[in-house]
Amino acid sequence: MTKYNLRSQVILFGLVLVWSILLGGGMAGVLKAAEPPKPPNSETLVAINTIDPIPERYQTGLKLYLENCGSCHVALPPEILPTQTWQTLLLEPEQHYGQKLEQIPRPFIFIVWNYLRTFSRPLGEDEQTPYRVTESRYFKALHPRVDLPPTLTAAGCISCHPGARDYDYRRLTPEWDDARKSAY
Ligand code: HEC
Ligand code: HEC
Repeated sequence: MTKYNLRSQVILFGLVLVWSILLGGGMAGVLKAAEPPKPPNSETLVAINTIDPIPERYQTGLKLYLENCGSCHVALPPEILPTQTWQTLLLEPEQHYGQKLEQIPRPFIFIVWNYLRTFSRPLGEDEQTPYRVTESRYFKALHPRVDLPPTLTAAGCISCHPGARDYDYRRLTPEWDDARKSAY
């Protein structure tokens, strides 16, 4: 084999390698998008929580979400409400619990939406869209041990989640934390 040939073979091999990596990544992305949503259960819900590392491609969405939805009340994690709730909240900013919000301008609204829909789960069939955490079965599923007060709103998270203002819902007050340790 001549030197020239060898070099072009090496280049060709490199190209094929890069191509297959690109293609592989692309295919994986397509497959993932096409995967049917898993049935919700508390175990899988807990697995995606707000302080685990968020993949880089959702970081901008998260940041924009915190900026737009975390100024009047603590930012609520997407896991606690169905995807449909988030969709309506984004689409109807003029009727926000008696407040009038500004619509998040494009394209930022799509980036926020991509974050919210990725980390929330669809509504069940024949289920009414909840607009309060107290009506959400996902919220209840994440609180198996807690007798949640029926008047709970975003203002109440901080009483058990001292890091709520920093979007940390894993940290608990010492009472709950101790109870958690003894429960397992
Ligand atoms: C201008 C202030 C303001 C901004 C900005 C804001 N909200 Fe609210 N939000 C409110 C008020 C006021 C309530 C009702 C408070 C109450 O009754 O507990 C509320 C309540 C909520 C609730 C209901 C929580 C519950 O179960 O009680 C959700 C969910 C919510 N907001 C999501 C969002 C999202 C998503 C965004 C960003 C698009 C956002 N908020 C931005 C003022 C705001
Ligand atoms: C009365 C105490 C209490 C209140 C109020 C409360 N939580 Fe929790 N939360 C807990 C406890 C305790 C857990 C751990 C699960 C369990 O033991 O039931 C938890 C777990 C969670 C988780 C799962 C975290 C993880 O590790 O994956 C999220 C998310 C969450 N809470 C969000 C909220 C939000 C948002 C609010 C306010 C709307 C709220 N919680 C209000 C006590 C509370």
